[in-house]
Formats: sequence, C-alpha cells, structure tokens
Amino acid sequence: MEEENLQLMKRLEKLKKTHDAVILAHNYQWGEVQDAADFVGDSLDLSQIAVEVEAKTIVFCGVHFMAESASLLAPEKAVILPEMLADCPLANMITVEQLREARKEYADASVVTYINSSAAVKAESDICCTSSNALAVVNSLEQDRVLFVPDANLAYHVSRQTDKEIIPWKGYCITHYRVTSAEVNWARKMYPDSPIIVHPECPPEVTAEADGVLSTGGMVKYASEAKAKRIIVGTEMGMLHRLQKENPQKEFLLLSNGLVCPNMKYTTLAKVVDALEKKENIITVPEDIRYKAAKAVQLMLDVSN
Ligand code: 13P
Repeated sequence: MEEENLQLMKRLEKLKKTHDAVILAHNYQWGEVQDAADFVGDSLDLSQIAVEVEAKTIVFCGVHFMAESASLLAPEKAVILPEMLADCPLANMITVEQLREARKEYADASVVTYINSSAAVKAESDICCTSSNALAVVNSLEQDRVLFVPDANLAYHVSRQTDKEIIPWKGYCITHYRVTSAEVNWARKMYPDSPIIVHPECPPEVTAEADGVLSTGGMVKYASEAKAKRIIVGTEMGMLHRLQKENPQKEFLLLSNGLVCPNMKYTTLAKVVDALEKKENIITVPEDIRYKAAKAVQLMLDVSN
C-alpha cells in the first residue's frame, strides 16, 4: 500500500474509534475504499448491515440513495455520505408527481420501486426491491399487474421470469445501458470458454445472451463457485477489484470499457477520512417521508429474509 494510503488508514482507524463508526462500501467503489471498509456488498447486503450493525455512525461509500436507504432504516445512526456529488442519475428518473400520475393510470397495479430511487418516491410505493430480490418481490404480490419503476431493463428482466404483467417505467442506468450485444458477441468469439455474467440493468438483448444475469452480490457468489478460470463481467469496473481479490487464481475481464460509474468514482479514501473527521454530509430524511419509505423497504427485507 502506498505511504499516503497507509497514513490515511491510520487516521481512519482512530476516527472510527472516536466516532464509533463503521465503513460500508458498495462493490463499485475504488479498490482503496473497498479495502478500508468493514463491509463491502451489494445494495441489499448493505441495507441489511446498516440495520444490524451496532455502531453509532455509518460512513456509506456509495451513492446518495444508498446512504438515504441506510438512514431511513436506521434513523438513530448518523449516516455520512463522503461525497455529496455522488448521486444516481437513474434514481432521479422518476419524481413523486410522475409516480402519482402513473398510479392513477394503472390503478389496479402494485407499485414496485427499485432501491435506486429517492426516499420520497419509495414513500409512494407499495414495496421496494433490489436487483437481487426483484423477482421474489414481484412474485410475492397479490396483484397480477405491477408498475415497476424506475429501471426499464430490470423490469424487462423480471417480466421474462414471471406470469405477472409488468409495466416498466422508462428509466435506465447511464453506465449499464451502454453495453451492447456486439460486445457480448465479441467476448464470445475471443473467449469461447469463458462465461459472461451481466447486471440486470443492461439492455434486454445483452441480458438475453449472457450466461448469468446477477446482482453484484450474485456475481461474488457465482465467481467463487464457477469452475471457469476466466469470467467476463458486465457491470461497473469496481466489481473487478473484489472478484480478483477473493479469487486470485481466476481472471476477470470487463465486458465493455464504458463500464465506469462516474458517481461511484467520486469517493476516495481521503474523502472518507475527511468526512468522518468533520462529521459532515450527514444524510437525513424528513420523518413523514422516512416512515412511509422505511415501510416499503422493510416489506422488501421481509421477502428477502
Ligand atoms: P447491486 O444491488 O446489484 O449491487 O446494484 C446496485 C446498482 O446501483 C447497480 O447499478
């Protein structure tokens, strides 16, 4: 480890004790941030850990909706987002007003809201989901029609595996939607023996061709169990750090050079230390919204457990 990072790690360890803090990092964070974290995981893992962990302070290395989800589930804890610019464009692709209008139009449908959304939108929803439990959440509902917001590609992926009618919202992840079937075909030709795993936020023609369509947590499991020596990975580049670290004998290649989430990349180890030192960027949710949003997320957790 570089000298500068070693010094930052020392400061971080002290600060964690002073503030009774834990560091949570999403699988897309820079390697240095993942290595400094107490827990690294996907959206579902991290929201469950936020509830269970005993610390008073959570430094959430991810994007805004993730820190917000932790805060609404664990309002007694101070949840810090090291970099306030770290937003998720997909989460902003539906507003409360738009969801209210859509609810009127599809009055007989249940509303399933992907965790990549604002707390205010979650509060208007029947239940939330993540990429790892979306199908189970949809199948747990009584209604036959589901308005699925805001990611259209995840909605489409779920619709291929359920008898329910899925009405997709038109949002998309600005990183995953760029992956093309030409890239999948090229990887197949170059590495015919290597499985291709992709995130369900990729376009339908990509998910249709992949060997596995998985949440980032699902990819961790797949990689440890797969017999293949090389795996092609169709999700944000930060994922490769964890996969490589946990499976040093295997090789992981990124399916597309474009798989970089600029928002996930804002958070550096220096910013983590700085935010905890100043105890700034604490994410809170107004109580009326928090209560309703937490209910929708809790219903999801009940399905997952
Ligand atoms: P996961 O829940 O699979 O980690 O996905 C999070 C995400 O934001 C994907 O873009």
